[in-house]
Amino acid sequence: MLLLNGSGCLDALIAPDVARALDAFVTKTITPLPRDGNAPVRIAETEHGMLNAIGLANPGREKFLDEVLPHLRELGFPLWVSVGGFAADEYAETCAALDDVTIELNLSCPNVDEAPESAAEIVGACRAATDLPLYAKLSPAAWDVADTARAVEAAGADGLSLVNTIRGLSLDERTLRPTLERGSGGYSGPALKPIALAAVYACARATTIPIVGMGGVRTGRDALELIAAGASAVALGTVLFSDPDAPLRVRTELDVERSARGFDSAHDARGIAHWTDAGQRADVHANVL
Ligand SMILES: Cc1cc2nc3c(=O)[nH]c(=O)nc-3n(C[C@H](O)[C@H](O)[C@H](O)COP(=O)(O)O)c2cc1C
Repeated sequence: MLLLNGSGCLDALIAPDVARALDAFVTKTITPLPRDGNAPVRIAETEHGMLNAIGLANPGREKFLDEVLPHLRELGFPLWVSVGGFAADEYAETCAALDDVTIELNLSCPNVDEAPESAAEIVGACRAATDLPLYAKLSPAAWDVADTARAVEAAGADGLSLVNTIRGLSLDERTLRPTLERGSGGYSGPALKPIALAAVYACARATTIPIVGMGGVRTGRDALELIAAGASAVALGTVLFSDPDAPLRVRTELDVERSARGFDSAHDARGIAHWTDAGQRADVHANVL
């Protein structure tokens, strides 16, 4: 079972050993121009998760390609580059400049104001610009994320990353004003798990492409649930801020959880949530069969 990090939740140059415990490292989203991101406060704790309004702070495409990517390559593990932008051609230009990586298109950042073109238009432009594997990272905010999933598959996506954060707000206990300078932010962590499960479950039925499941994974049991819903890989996000040992721990727990349920490998549990009572798989597509 492939274990990755959620984009923006790990810096492999600062914590290479954590990244090495994963099967591939996913970079923070890169935009064409450098971005400082939003003003602080940009992170807040809430009862059941974390709010962030980082605002895609990143060094920009040129510096990433010239300075960051060569250092990442020296570390020797498989790389996924998260690509962002504010128009389809911006995404496509970054894709065209990349080589020997998997690309994850961030089609879902809740912390930037500019509204990009539709997810399918962006995927289509990127598909024309590169032959590299293209994963579309979608927001769980749409009522029917499966519609978007179908559209990006038709536009040429090779896989889906589900889900990004969902918009949330926290208020300061004393002043009752927003804790984050920007107001709202992206909500991640434990509260996101049922939302992520619903998105993975719906998209596994709607498409035939592989899914990286993420959202609130803290334990091997959480990972197994995303796999049962149809994910073929799992990413760790918020948990990495509090537990750098999570990759190894989650892997070990996943083995215990799946073998307790009689599965020889995590792969065998993939899509099991779609089985009917009679033990036959319900009408789901090839990616969970
Ligand atoms: C501080 C922080 C920064 C993030 N930055 C990005 C980003 O740059 N690009 C992106 O696609 N997702 C970003 N995410 C979203 C995560 O990759 C992941 O989709 C989300 O947090 C849900 O997983 P989790 O509940 O396990 O954290 C960020 C999340 C956090 C908490």
